[in-house]
Amino acid sequence: MEERRVGYYEILLVMVLVTLLHISLNIVPASANFSDEVEQHRRNLLANGLGTTPPMGWNSWNHFNCQINEKIIRETADALVSTGLSKLGYNYVNIDDCWAELNRDDKGNLVAKKSTFPSGIKALADYVHSKGLKLGIYSDAGYFTCSNKMPGSLGHEFQDAKTFASWGIDYLKYDNCNNDGSKPTVRYPVMTRALMNAGRPIFFSLCEWGDMHPALWGARVGNSWRTTNDINDSWDSMISRADMNEVYADLAKPGGWNDPDMLEVGNGGMTKDEYIVHFSLWAISKAPLLLGCDIRNMSKEIVEIITNKEVIAVNQDSLGVQAKKVRMEGDQEIWAGPLSGYRVAVVLLNRGPLRNAITANWDDLGIPPKSVVQARDLWQHQTLKKVFVDKLSATVDPHSCKMYVLKPVG
Ligand code: GLA
Repeated sequence: MEERRVGYYEILLVMVLVTLLHISLNIVPASANFSDEVEQHRRNLLANGLGTTPPMGWNSWNHFNCQINEKIIRETADALVSTGLSKLGYNYVNIDDCWAELNRDDKGNLVAKKSTFPSGIKALADYVHSKGLKLGIYSDAGYFTCSNKMPGSLGHEFQDAKTFASWGIDYLKYDNCNNDGSKPTVRYPVMTRALMNAGRPIFFSLCEWGDMHPALWGARVGNSWRTTNDINDSWDSMISRADMNEVYADLAKPGGWNDPDMLEVGNGGMTKDEYIVHFSLWAISKAPLLLGCDIRNMSKEIVEIITNKEVIAVNQDSLGVQAKKVRMEGDQEIWAGPLSGYRVAVVLLNRGPLRNAITANWDDLGIPPKSVVQARDLWQHQTLKKVFVDKLSATVDPHSCKMYVLKPVG
């Protein structure tokens, strides 16, 4: 395979393509001149100081759907602490859809659902904060949320942002159902401004499912943006979300992350090896690590996966560069990206049904030729005894991966 060096003409080509895409999506009118665009960027720049590394925590949707209540949320907060997950960085407790009454109160305020959240959201935020954690909530840039069981925030953005801030909310996931047909690029920035005015830093997670390529405009609107529609707890769904998300790798950075949807690890639909692939790909892709299982009841196997400190460290690395597929040969793929300290994170991925050898050449990984490299196997928790020159090979089981951090030595 040829060396992947990005040359001047490639950069120019990407710039032209991105501009054409902007124009064809009508994000920037064809007539806008460059200084208008820069000016607009400046005015809208999201600088809430959050998301310098991908967010970590838990969200209720993947496991509980609408069957949530304040007991589950409190017990989840307790479990994040008692399992040691919070110490590893999992600190957001995020309530998804179905937490509110279908009708606002007579002043137009959102109201927590009395039958399931009788103590109200402020009390829940106080509880979660008392454990050293943060509370996230969910709304929608339409008239109703996707469940149709609670109101959305369209037309109520400033009021709702103030309500969230007054309750002590730290994170808002903002969905895209039941809207008025206008573009997300019109509706989402209204909530951005509302949150910036609310008097409390609130992580803003855009959930428009990748419809209008939010990677192209999300960084000035939110701290993360979904690049795909919903994940489910299966190999095909998981791996295809990783693929769709990878396309936008160049556009993720500290403060603004691509989001291939929340984790399914622990929900029972995949094998242990498949969940290891899921966690490894999310980590190396700098995706939000939002657990989606019932963390009050986890097997030892699942705990081992989600508490792998070395894999988490790849996700939280200060450089904040999302990995890319640097080589694809049939079912065998190499995903890699730089880490701080001149290190490189690598996943050797076998998507196929047969055991196979996979070789990563330094050329593929952007490591200078002839470099002597030390390899740390992140799932075996072992630094390999021999050092490597020019390449690293491993045999990988079906639907499995190996994950390494490579460090040039000497
Ligand atoms: C959409 C989102 C999901 C979840 C549900 C809730 O489908 O993409 O992540 O929030 O709505 O109804």
